[in-house]
Amino acid sequence: MNAKRAPLAIANWKMNKSPREAAAFLDEFLPRRSGFPEGVQVAIAPAFPALERVGRLLLHSGVLLGAQDVHTEAKGAHTGEVSAPMLKDLEVQLALVGHSERRRDRKEGESECGKKITRLLEAGIPAVYCVGETLEEREKGETDAVLTRQMTCFDAFPDGPPPGIVLAYEPVWAIGTGRAATPQMAQDAHRVLRGLLEKRYGAAHAEAIRILYGGSVTPANARELFSQPDIDGGLVGGASLVPKDFEAIVLAAG
Ligand code: 13P
Repeated sequence: MNAKRAPLAIANWKMNKSPREAAAFLDEFLPRRSGFPEGVQVAIAPAFPALERVGRLLLHSGVLLGAQDVHTEAKGAHTGEVSAPMLKDLEVQLALVGHSERRRDRKEGESECGKKITRLLEAGIPAVYCVGETLEEREKGETDAVLTRQMTCFDAFPDGPPPGIVLAYEPVWAIGTGRAATPQMAQDAHRVLRGLLEKRYGAAHAEAIRILYGGSVTPANARELFSQPDIDGGLVGGASLVPKDFEAIVLAAG
């Protein structure tokens, strides 16, 4: 953590929780927010079918509404897809782009991610751009090269970083495995990412942009991870499905 950047904890529910289950979670989670540390931002990114209901329940709660993805085009013949203007209409306040599960399942690459961030920008929605290496890439010593390649998505923004952009370092081997990166491993990768931001946009932007860690964050390891100087919060999968666990992670971000 660094006092200059507001900590952020995002629940990425992935393909979990129907609208009804999401409402039951919020029933339990929202009353706890009076105890949240001041200055910590909290967001929940449900699956698309639950967005509207979650959005309604989060109204005036101070908890932000997030989406897990967005299409590269603003509208048109793309059956089953969801556009940035639609998310805007639902008052979505941030959206994930480039999650490793989409890179894996949908073969999403950097230029597609750049387009998605552009569509979000047009709709006034900040993106949370996810990067991270696979186990094979780490073992081959390619982590820095992979992060450098993934950061070329910002070639689409030569004049400055997209307003409100957040990065999320999510090593693929740590996601859903119970095997989080050590705080030092995560800090090293975050430092590399901040260095790449600095090279591209200068020190002031690099120091202002938040970089979250994701990959098996739990109530037990969150505090130590978040105490690293370049880790500004968490992007949380499994542990964010349980109200008291996500609450504990929010508290650890304070
Ligand atoms: P887990 O917290 O379940 O490892 O998932 C991390 C993640 O992918 C969040 O986007």
